[in-house]
Amino acid sequence: MTRACGNRQSKPRGFEHMGSRTKRRPLLIRRGRSREEKAAASAAQRRKKKAINRLLEDRTIEQVSYDQYRQTVRHVYDGPQGAILALCSFLSLHTPLGERLLRSRRFDLRGCKQVLDVGCGAGQILRHLLKYADPDAEITCFDISPGMVRRARRRIQNPRPRFLVADLTQLPFADETFDCVTCGYVLEHLPDARLGLGELARVMQPGAKMLLLTTEDNFGGAWTSRVWRCRTYNRQELFQMCQEVGLVWTNELWFTPIHKLLRAGGICVELRKPA
Ligand SMILES: C[S@@+](CC[C@H](N)C(=O)[O-])C[C@H]1O[C@@H](n2cnc3c(N)ncnc32)[C@H](O)[C@@H]1O
Repeated sequence: MTRACGNRQSKPRGFEHMGSRTKRRPLLIRRGRSREEKAAASAAQRRKKKAINRLLEDRTIEQVSYDQYRQTVRHVYDGPQGAILALCSFLSLHTPLGERLLRSRRFDLRGCKQVLDVGCGAGQILRHLLKYADPDAEITCFDISPGMVRRARRRIQNPRPRFLVADLTQLPFADETFDCVTCGYVLEHLPDARLGLGELARVMQPGAKMLLLTTEDNFGGAWTSRVWRCRTYNRQELFQMCQEVGLVWTNELWFTPIHKLLRAGGICVELRKPA
């Protein structure tokens, strides 16, 4: 017994788990491409894909000042495109898929008493908040586009939420007001996410949570960027930006297994402001 153990210990690295038939060939030597070569090839492929996506993406947000871009956003959402969004987003998959996250409590609203919905649009997330938040929770929502706020009021037909026209980069709220924030597809309308995330961190109470959805830098994201004149985010870069403003990325969420596999539904994550 002692001898056998001794023999096993004396095997060179790379041979430890091999059966007797393969004993003479170390694990590291394989036929075909090495792991490093495969990694380099897939990195090159990713770079190529990224370059194509970058070509497709809309560049307006990089080419004008934020003040000019803000006017563009208001114009797009106040106008017919916003009206179409108000109609179609209720028919698209995003609304029921977003509801699943709240209904299943994967993003849990229970116990939250001051809820903020950022860039409420036509009330796509707001209607879920009204359904799944505690009955005594106060719900505030705002949008930069007066046209979208009007549409949300008309569609929601509920006296409970407080509606405001405001810009995410200059919030009219006191520090540490909210214990829960939802922010669906708004950050892509900022040249730098930190302008908005920093404001959200300011108005969040210590320990508050946020559901953040945004457009990713992939093929689908590039098309979204074309249609809505917005930018996209790289997952790692966004993670870094959240950290810089003191928001911790606690849970990556996926609408469905297909979303996880194809990364087709954008970035969906729960964040926390540390207590
Ligand atoms: C794609 S819609 C998202 C609507 C809704 N949140 C959802 O998840 O479906 C984006 C909304 O963000 C608003 N928005 C864009 N930039 C904003 C900003 N800086 N401050 C507030 N709202 C903004 C737009 O007016 C628009 O209504």
